[in-house]
Amino acid sequence: MKATKLEPARRERPRDAAPTSPPRKERMGKAAMLGALMVAMMLVPGWACAEGTMDAASVRYLDNLLVWVLSTDRTSYAVGLNELDELQTIYWGGKLESDQDLSAARLHPEHASFDSRETMSNLEYPGWGGRYYNEPALKVTLASGVRDLVLKYASHEIRGDTLEIRLKDIQYDLFVKLTYKVFPKEDIIRKQAEIENRTPQAVTVESAQSGVWYVPAGEGYGLTYLTGRWAGETQLVREPLHPGEKVLESRRGNTSHQLNPWFAIDEGGVADEEHGRVWFGALGWSGNWKLVVEDTPAAHQVRVTGGYNDFDFSWPLQPGERLSTPPYYGGFSSHGFGEASRLMHRFERNEILPDRAHPHVRPVLYNSWEATTFNVEEPGQKALAEKAAKLGVELFVMDDGWFGKRNDDHAGLGDWYVNPQKFPHGLQPLISYVNSLGMDFGLWFEPEMVNPDSDLYRHHPDWAMNFPGRPRSEARNQLVLNMARDDVKEYIFGVLDKMLSENNIKYIKWDMNRHFGEPGWAEVPVAEQKEIWVKYVRNVYEIIDRLRAKHPNLEIESCSGGGGRVDLGILERVNVVWTSDNTEAFDRLGIQEGFSYAYTPKIMSAWVTDVPNLNGRSTPLQFRFLVAMQGALGVGANLNKWTAEDSALATRMISTYKSIRETVQNGNLYRLFSPRQGGLTANQYVSSDGKQAVLFAFLHSQQYLRPAPTICLRGLDENATYRVKPLDDKLVEKQEALSGAFLMRHGLNLDLTGDYDSTLVILERME
Ligand code: GLA
Repeated sequence: MKATKLEPARRERPRDAAPTSPPRKERMGKAAMLGALMVAMMLVPGWACAEGTMDAASVRYLDNLLVWVLSTDRTSYAVGLNELDELQTIYWGGKLESDQDLSAARLHPEHASFDSRETMSNLEYPGWGGRYYNEPALKVTLASGVRDLVLKYASHEIRGDTLEIRLKDIQYDLFVKLTYKVFPKEDIIRKQAEIENRTPQAVTVESAQSGVWYVPAGEGYGLTYLTGRWAGETQLVREPLHPGEKVLESRRGNTSHQLNPWFAIDEGGVADEEHGRVWFGALGWSGNWKLVVEDTPAAHQVRVTGGYNDFDFSWPLQPGERLSTPPYYGGFSSHGFGEASRLMHRFERNEILPDRAHPHVRPVLYNSWEATTFNVEEPGQKALAEKAAKLGVELFVMDDGWFGKRNDDHAGLGDWYVNPQKFPHGLQPLISYVNSLGMDFGLWFEPEMVNPDSDLYRHHPDWAMNFPGRPRSEARNQLVLNMARDDVKEYIFGVLDKMLSENNIKYIKWDMNRHFGEPGWAEVPVAEQKEIWVKYVRNVYEIIDRLRAKHPNLEIESCSGGGGRVDLGILERVNVVWTSDNTEAFDRLGIQEGFSYAYTPKIMSAWVTDVPNLNGRSTPLQFRFLVAMQGALGVGANLNKWTAEDSALATRMISTYKSIRETVQNGNLYRLFSPRQGGLTANQYVSSDGKQAVLFAFLHSQQYLRPAPTICLRGLDENATYRVKPLDDKLVEKQEALSGAFLMRHGLNLDLTGDYDSTLVILERME
């Protein structure tokens, strides 16, 4: 790959020294100034709205303009230097017709001097210094006490789809390397920053963000994000943006149920599934993170700064040391939220997930948790395994309760040896039996935790996070191990590695059931103790990475009391996530809808469980299956209680799922009817080759004998004919084949009645 390396565009000059060229005002006449101002004012708010094509290279440096253009198949992103050698975002949106248009889009920092130059200058990676009042990307205190940081261009390098731009403080040898990676096919760009201290003394970093995404200045944007709680994750919220800051964050040590590090900004706040310009982004970090969504009062400039949460953050950077920030992804859709989600899904499958190089479909799983809770033992698990295998299950997972003195949630966490009463001959007989039934075996761990009632805690009380001499708050009767400590990391790696080496375990459900409390780390100097938030996550990542390297066929599920650890950082390391402890099918419709805005259905683990469920609701088994079949299907019911009819239906549904899972997991999702509006939810999946489409429909509760609304499909070929294969007799149109045009314009009518009725229609494209 040819690399372009450039020396500094201009000689560095200290801020107070004489400038190397006359200031801009002296160089320009009044009229020219005005003209430039008008051009800037006209162009900045809307940027360019047309879409088109240009040079194929994904990263280009336009020497004459001092601009870098990052191009995906359908979008452009441009950053450039202003007259002060500061790096600015110039454009982000639909693809530009021509590079030269960007000459008009340059920003001029002096024009907004009344408020603050930065208000309008869209600094790409603003240090906190000078007259900077917006959310900074970097805030430091230098050894001299100086807290002023002004970053200017130093050099750049282009390597294929990657651009690196180095910035440097105007005086001190404090550098920031900004790395951009372009994913052309998925229309996604990744930003990352690395802060390097080349001064002779330590620098304290107080805020280290990954970057800032800017949308065109203007009023009336909408913000969409995901919020929730335990048993109610990924609820979609849409709200108008007003001047000020909206902070989405986690201060809990993991990604969190409460907010997820994903956002979307849509023009006018009126985008829908098919229409409207939507800018979206996500952080790849499973610890304390922060997204600051700002609408600046003077310019109505919407900007989203993201990276490590600066709450309780402090990072002493010694001379020669570097601090890298989490990946921060951004994408743009000119076809609403539906397209934005599909881009994310494709991106995750192609570029993030561990099986990205050799993708395979998720197996149908059985998990014993809701059937047996902590009462696991060999005969009972074998009986469930036998029943699961008959249904067509491919992966049998034993959940909590198999280790230490674990009979309930008061004891045992930390003691990762097999409980001899429950499994007198170890796990081998169970695993062999599961394998003999044609299934892989998986096992639950909660490696980051310890119960005070455990051998581990009795031997190493100091391993639990704490402030010495202060109370240690328990949650679910457990404490958090200080995974930032390398000795703890090595111990946990060792026990997991041993279990995996001695047993044929193909799958780990990696749980994390409480948030941080008293995050003390007394063993390191006080100045370094706040590093615990970041180093903890890095060590968790390292353990997973090393386990995967040593056990290449291992698959991992990320669970954190349900969906508390779902983000693009953990997703580089795990194959699937536990979406929510709430497996009640009607509630799941909403949880799964929100989830699908940011994350691919392929990783969305969804189980069919028993009724009445935790909220007391009972939905029919078919409804429960169809809800779960919209992601990675699992069964979590007590199979001992199922009737012959239940098992027969389950066998049929699992077999149907296997015939559509390639489409569900790796295809394109179209959300047709939202569970947030009206009485029907409908989702459609189209396979990536266009040969199969699957429609899922769920009636919530029928009133006044109203028929379900007609469902117009999307994403089909209007000139093609599709063979229609309904699951049951609820499809009103009885024809065996229908055209794409009919399916998308006339639509399908479903005879859904009563409460929680549901159906599925499979469409197969005929040659
Ligand atoms: C968490 C998980 C559940 C189950 C239990 C076991 O709550 O989310 O799925 O594994 O822990 O204790």
